[in-house]
Amino acid sequence: MTSAWMGTVKFTRHLNFAVAFFIFFFACSISSQAAGVLSQDDKNCLECHSQEKFEKPMAEGEMLSLHIPGKDFAASVHNAVGCTGCHADIDLKKHPQTSKKKITLRSHSMAMVQVCKDCHDDKFKLYEGSIHATLLRDGNEAAPLCSDCHSPHSIRKDTASAPMAEVSCRQCHTPIYKAYAESVHGQIRGKPEGGHAPLCPDCHKAHEVTAASTGNQLKDACLGCHTNALAVHKTWLPNTDRHFEAVSCPACHAPTAKRRVNLRLYDSIAQERVAEKQGVPQFESRARSADSKGLGLDALALQSLLKEFNREGSEGKTILRGRLEVSTGAEAHQLAPKARAIKECDSCHREGAAPFQTVTISIVSPDGRPLHYGAQKEVLNSATSVDSVGGFYAIGGTRIKLLDVLFVLTLLAGIGIPLGHMTLKWLFRRYLRQIEAERQATQPQADSQASSGDNSTSPTKS
Ligand code: HEC
Ligand code: HEC
Ligand code: HEC
Ligand code: HEC
Ligand code: HEC
Ligand code: HEC
Ligand code: HEC
Ligand code: HEC
Ligand code: HEC
Repeated sequence: MTSAWMGTVKFTRHLNFAVAFFIFFFACSISSQAAGVLSQDDKNCLECHSQEKFEKPMAEGEMLSLHIPGKDFAASVHNAVGCTGCHADIDLKKHPQTSKKKITLRSHSMAMVQVCKDCHDDKFKLYEGSIHATLLRDGNEAAPLCSDCHSPHSIRKDTASAPMAEVSCRQCHTPIYKAYAESVHGQIRGKPEGGHAPLCPDCHKAHEVTAASTGNQLKDACLGCHTNALAVHKTWLPNTDRHFEAVSCPACHAPTAKRRVNLRLYDSIAQERVAEKQGVPQFESRARSADSKGLGLDALALQSLLKEFNREGSEGKTILRGRLEVSTGAEAHQLAPKARAIKECDSCHREGAAPFQTVTISIVSPDGRPLHYGAQKEVLNSATSVDSVGGFYAIGGTRIKLLDVLFVLTLLAGIGIPLGHMTLKWLFRRYLRQIEAERQATQPQADSQASSGDNSTSPTKS
């Protein structure tokens, strides 16, 4: 539309009155429509389509509502383009036609929504690359189309600043919305004055939504707003970068969540997670055949699964990379205020620590989402799997000898020597004292600020 305009504008240089009048008329009609007045053409359509309970049956007996609320349309951004801006194929001389081949309601929507591309090609391209579009192409009809998130006949200006409760994601991801609404972000976002905390699209994007637990995009989103987070954690968490790699943010910030260790198949040469080949899924069947008893992979089974994956490529190409994360999607959104975040080292670095009681192995499926298979918790400290999961504890690879000691202790404990918590606690206490001393020496100011009150230093309030 804009380009047609530009063409006309260029033309005005040698113009006669008729065209000038046309442009004037066109401009007026756009502005008056934008003010909530319907054009005569649109009124013609609405003569039939504003009737309530106007509907027709589709292929599987579902009803398609043909009722378009004229008032909503008049107030919408698309009033300016008019009904035929999107329904160009409708010729009133031949409309309505009832002879059309019957299709399902969903196929109807999928066909109609293609029209958005005409004017919003940019959004369409972003959307085409999203997990939602991928799912839809794979035949998952529950995944959203443009028209599921934007009701085409009533889109208002400023979609982005709509109230939290109206976010389009809510209709399909209800449990996640509930968890989010109670989270530290949801609590702030829900207040009329406190609109800066992120809503779904601020972390996941609206159109280019990707699978949540592959890649670093979500962590990057967190750190994009919380620019000082890395520095703040460094004051108490040793090797923060390593922790941020191996522990997801919600694993510490959703204190009531159930945590688990996810061992992810990783290609050490390409430096990326191993993905299933399109069309030839192998992970599930290989895991099943290795896990003959169906009790979850044990250390030997894990070893043979890895061997399978290494058969095609060079030896040792496929390895496992551990990550501590929460067990469900809803739990990832139960973020609490910082005072409740997990800080005690021994909630993780202790033999028998809760997060290490549940273990899964995962691979990336063709649509980008991870596929999980259960493993027995013993794989983490069995002597057999030192090779396969050794990287998780960074044995030998760490400058800090403490972890090597820790690893050996875990290992010993695994094969039955009860070396108690006392030793570990003692080791950690010494280590922590050292960090505390360093911190006080280097950052006396940050320290006094941190202890002078929890929320008073938050960026939005200052
Ligand atoms: C005389 C009444 C009438 C008018 C005027 C009218 N429609 Fe319709 N329209 C119908 C009926 C009846 C159907 C259902 C046809 C069927 O059963 O397939 C329909 C169906 C539709 C559909 C759904 C098409 C489909 O694939 O099933 C669209 C879109 C539509 N109309 C748009 C418009 C537009 C845009 C205008 C104005 C340019 C308009 N209509 C004017 C009666 C009308
Ligand atoms: C911004 C583009 C756009 C405009 C403008 C628009 N429509 Fe639609 N319309 C659509 C899309 C997309 C659908 C398919 C929605 C769906 O079923 O998911 C649709 C569907 C319909 C249907 C079939 C019912 C349905 O839900 O599929 C009717 C009837 C209709 N439109 C009438 C109108 C009338 C009358 C106007 C003007 C008052 C109008 N439309 C303006 C995009 C538009
Ligand atoms: C004929 C051109 C045209 C078509 C087709 C079209 N739009 Fe639009 N759309 C517009 C115009 C013009 C605006 C107003 C732009 C502005 O105000 O900056 C707009 C604005 C929007 C907005 C922005 C609302 C906001 O936050 O300000 C959304 C969302 C939107 N359209 C969605 C859709 C969807 C979904 C479809 C397909 C059902 C569609 N559009 C089809 C022309 C179109
Ligand atoms: C999963 C839900 C979802 C789907 C699917 C979706 N959108 Fe959006 N869209 C949003 C949200 C949410 C916003 C608000 C912007 C934001 O917060 O980033 C938005 C904003 C927009 C805007 C206004 C952008 C701006 O910068 O003002 C346009 C235009 C738009 N969408 C068009 C489309 C079109 C066209 C499609 C289909 C290709 C589509 N959307 C599919 C959720 C969706
Ligand atoms: C019409 C329903 C619908 C709407 C609306 C919708 N989604 Fe989805 N979404 C799905 C379905 C179905 C899946 C695939 C199954 C699943 O993971 O729940 C999915 C998957 C996802 C995934 C990938 C899940 C994973 O395992 O990694 C993310 C992230 C996501 N949606 C975010 C959003 C966001 C953000 C919005 C709003 C901007 C939104 N969705 C709106 C239906 C929807
Ligand atoms: C090992 C557990 C752990 C991990 C992993 C972790 N955090 Fe934290 N985080 C905490 C604790 C504990 C605090 C509170 C520290 C304090 O107040 O002394 C905190 C504080 C914060 C704060 C408040 C900072 C301030 O200004 O006071 C933010 C924001 C934050 N974390 C974000 C993140 C993000 C983003 C990630 C992921 C990249 C992350 N955290 C990973 C435990 C963790
Ligand atoms: C503060 C950032 C943030 C906000 C806001 C947010 N999410 Fe998430 N979302 C995440 C993180 C982090 C994960 C977990 C990623 C992982 O597994 O490492 C996630 C995971 C998901 C998943 C995948 C769940 C699964 O089963 O694996 C979906 C779907 C999703 N979010 C949808 C939403 C919806 C809908 C909203 C709004 C109600 C929302 N998110 C708000 C950060 C956010
Ligand atoms: C759009 C920006 C934005 C994004 C993205 C974002 N946050 Fe926040 N977050 C905020 C704001 C604003 C607050 C409230 C003010 C404050 O306390 O910093 C907040 C508060 C918090 C708090 C509570 C801090 C306290 O003082 O108690 C934590 C923890 C937190 N966010 C973690 C995260 C995590 C983890 C992610 C990613 C999954 C994330 N945030 C993504 C803006 C963001
Ligand atoms: C939420 C669980 C969790 C908490 C809390 C936690 N860690 Fe860790 N930490 C891990 C995991 C998982 C690794 C394994 C990283 C790897 O090697 O893959 C790790 C690794 C380490 C390492 C080795 C880093 C390296 O250089 O490879 C040290 C040292 C360490 N943690 C010390 C601490 C101390 C001290 C605390 C308390 C201030 C703490 N951790 C709190 C989970 C945690």
